[in-house]
Amino acid sequence: MSRDALEVIRTRRAVRAMTSEPVRREQLEQILDAAAHAPNAGNRRLQRLVVIDDDATLRVLRMVSPGMLQRPAAAVVICIDVARAVEYGLPARSSGLFIDVGTAAQTMMLAAHALGLGSGPVTSFSRAAVSTVLNLPARWSPEMVVCLGHAATTQPSPVGPHRRSTWRDLTYWGRLGSDATTAAGS
Ligand SMILES: Cc1cc2nc3c(=O)[nH]c(=O)nc-3n(C[C@H](O)[C@H](O)[C@H](O)COP(=O)(O)O)c2cc1C
Repeated sequence: MSRDALEVIRTRRAVRAMTSEPVRREQLEQILDAAAHAPNAGNRRLQRLVVIDDDATLRVLRMVSPGMLQRPAAAVVICIDVARAVEYGLPARSSGLFIDVGTAAQTMMLAAHALGLGSGPVTSFSRAAVSTVLNLPARWSPEMVVCLGHAATTQPSPVGPHRRSTWRDLTYWGRLGSDATTAAGS
């Protein structure tokens, strides 16, 4: 199934209730392929994607991830290869590395939605515990988990403010005037 890109962008939601139906391997591969097409600072590709789709490991992953409200059929743990970044001369906490985690995550979530799957990002987890559970190399830092699965019919209420911001709420045109601070804070 494929949908108009703008509709996919507008209708994707963080899915926090998923059925036990598995995600097919070919769908996972399409989602991972989408990540490889995400924009990436300097085209260095310092993100590493660890796919977990076995129930036992997913269960343990959930135990160390308080922000993982869903029971996903699969999860992609996006890691930064910090040692490789340093070899490139980048600071270990260079902003581009984290932005690239976001571009990979969003690209995967949009791909999942286009395939008719649900997804939900999670950053509330113990990095140390996830590293141990997944036996990650010491030089990799897990930064975000993208949960994948089939959306349940009923979803918990969205978190945060009930009203969705519109682009007008978020946007300023051109140079900001002296009242910009007030406007941005309102
Ligand atoms: C950096 C980041 C971290 C997030 N961490 C979590 C998380 O730990 N648990 C969770 O349920 N949702 C998490 N989310 C999802 C947001 O809560 C969600 O995107 C937001 O409420 C807007 O809802 P929407 O994605 O349905 O538009 C995270 C999103 C981002 C971008």
